[in-house]
Amino acid sequence: MEIGKVLISKEQIDQRLEEMGARITADYAGKDVILVAVLKGAFMVMADLSRHIHLPVDMDFMAVSSYGAATQTSGVVRILKDLDQEIADRHVIIVEDIIDSGLTLAYLLKNLQVRKPASIRIAALLLKAGIQSVPIDVEYVGFEIPPDFVVGYGLDWLGKYRNLPYVAVMDEDDITRHSEG
Ligand code: IMP
Ligand code: MG
Repeated sequence: MEIGKVLISKEQIDQRLEEMGARITADYAGKDVILVAVLKGAFMVMADLSRHIHLPVDMDFMAVSSYGAATQTSGVVRILKDLDQEIADRHVIIVEDIIDSGLTLAYLLKNLQVRKPASIRIAALLLKAGIQSVPIDVEYVGFEIPPDFVVGYGLDWLGKYRNLPYVAVMDEDDITRHSEG
């Protein structure tokens, strides 16, 4: 298994996160904002995007894992780590690395809505265009990408490559999806 070509460079990511941060800063001025990142993949987006949000935001983290066969997202999600904080009446922004089937996020949205936040929006660095099996409204999107398996910038293949500063495509042969988040 080899890393293929660079799809999105470090410079492109930096610039796009700055733009997304500027929009969020403008949209949420004066509001009580809590950024919620989904571990592990979103840790890098959280770190870099949050530094472009010039508001006194709170931060929290969740960890989830898919039930069932590890080769495909099942949509049945187990919460491994829940939020530490209450979100009632607060403005939640879910920070995600990538939206693929959208099933994980659909579950999370439903789960968090029950807690009666003032609002929930999604900020995702990557969106695999047109393949969501459930409609997901993503307010802040970094890049729309083809439905290939990608690694880097938080995204892993079998636990590795999260530390690459760019997003790269994995070479074709024997890519299996997995559920490390
Ligand atoms: P979902 O299919 O939208 O539920 O995706 C759930 C999770 O699968 C994402 O948050 C990622 O952690 C992981 N994932 C989906 N596509 C990729 C990929 O191309 N590379 C690495 N991880 C991925
Ligand atoms: Mg993830």
